Amino acid sequence: MLPFPARGRSRDEVLSAMRAARDHDIRWKQGRVFGLVYHISDEIDALLQEAFSLFFAENGLNPTAFPSLQKFETEIVAMSASLLGGDEHVRGNVTSGGTESLLCVVKAARDWARVHRPEITQPEIVLPVSGHPAFDKAGHYFGVKIVHVPVREDLRADVSAMIRAVTPDTILMVGSAPAYPHGVVDPIPELAAAARELGLLFHVDACVGGFMLPFVRKLGYPVPDFDFRVEGVTSISADLHKYGYAAKGASVILYRSAELRRQQMFVTTEWSGGIYPSPTLAGTRPAGPIAAAWAILNYLGEDGYLDITAKTMETVRRIQAGINAIPGLKVMSDPEMSVFAIGPADKNGLDVYEVADELSRRGWHLDRQHFPQTLHITVNYVHTAVADEFLRDLASAAETVRRPGVRKTLTRVALGAANAVARVLPAAWTSRLMSKISALLGGGGGLPGRMAPMYGLIGTLPNRGDLKELVLDLLDGMTRYVRRN
Ligand SMILES: Cc1ncc(COP(=O)(O)O)c(C=O)c1O
Repeated sequence: MLPFPARGRSRDEVLSAMRAARDHDIRWKQGRVFGLVYHISDEIDALLQEAFSLFFAENGLNPTAFPSLQKFETEIVAMSASLLGGDEHVRGNVTSGGTESLLCVVKAARDWARVHRPEITQPEIVLPVSGHPAFDKAGHYFGVKIVHVPVREDLRADVSAMIRAVTPDTILMVGSAPAYPHGVVDPIPELAAAARELGLLFHVDACVGGFMLPFVRKLGYPVPDFDFRVEGVTSISADLHKYGYAAKGASVILYRSAELRRQQMFVTTEWSGGIYPSPTLAGTRPAGPIAAAWAILNYLGEDGYLDITAKTMETVRRIQAGINAIPGLKVMSDPEMSVFAIGPADKNGLDVYEVADELSRRGWHLDRQHFPQTLHITVNYVHTAVADEFLRDLASAAETVRRPGVRKTLTRVALGAANAVARVLPAAWTSRLMSKISALLGGGGGLPGRMAPMYGLIGTLPNRGDLKELVLDLLDGMTRYVRRN
């Protein structure tokens, strides 16, 4: 238990405790994380912070009280629509992030179908397996079935398989530009044409690419059509807080028509508190992220984004060439922009989870992916300064993993035993056992120090239900109060 503070503390005390709490955070300003944080410079951060704090108290819930926010939001939406090939009919909102944008799309599609296809009782969405889990979350929240479709060998959506997955209950098809796991853009024109022919809505998840691909293309890199210029695309999500380099808590959701966006919005006229309209999922809407997003779009402009994108793409090419030159590793897929994955070069290639652990020891944070096992890389401007250092550490991490070791043998034995046990024990026991073993292998209490054994373990668990339980246990452990000194 943590008692509620009996007395207040001084401003200095509070702030220095907070600064100290950051000691063990990943050093994002030094480009040590590939994803999570997008950073250009201290100068840009100062602008974002000033814009954010100018509006830190305002509330986007009621646009009549804050015409300033209404101006910022409508202008952000209109500028984003222009960037993404939309016209004056496009409508949209600023949301708190990609997940909220996708929740809005699924809600809008469900309610659109209720009006236009009332015979459907259990609506379905067709999504490539590479599509973001926010769709699954939305399906879970809104009672929409998500049908996952395997991707092609090049990891892009398989158009024929997507069409085959459509049933009379399908309301929406989705493509990504690009998909997060391997950074490849799905064949949007083909998918959109199929959706149109089948009378479906079609969403392009450009959360990660929406503020990058247009500039990558303008710089002359090959980028297939993916936006409102493609007939049949009915909505697009694009995150300002990713390659828009805005402050966290900002994404746009855009619809081709007002009629469609209407299905996203909510209003009740029966509340004793008065008429209550709400365009997105949140009630109170923080104004800071909207203000900071408006500031960065206007501060950088197209020429600023082109400059940043050019430098980022040069860094991407340098890092990719460096990875492919390391024995045992390679860049998976043929990504259009700056998102990709590192995998083993072939079936005798390196265990990339072990490589990730070695990189962690050297202060780098890379997310582990599976099916197949890879490490995720999202390069942004901040990495232009650290690409060589990263490649040096990656080469040395790979070198360490190539050397045979006792620990690796032990891990393999423990994994084999755990899996054998997992096949015969009831689910609840298994998950408890698994977390014990992962703690033993990895480091105990809270976040395991070495993740590879744990990821190896959970990735190979035979029963996916057990796996969910195990992850929920871990999540519970990470999100409950534990006394620290
Ligand atoms: C393609 C894609 N869609 C949606 C999201 C979800 O965005 P957020 O984490 O801002 O909710 C992400 C996040 O990485 C993404 O890459």
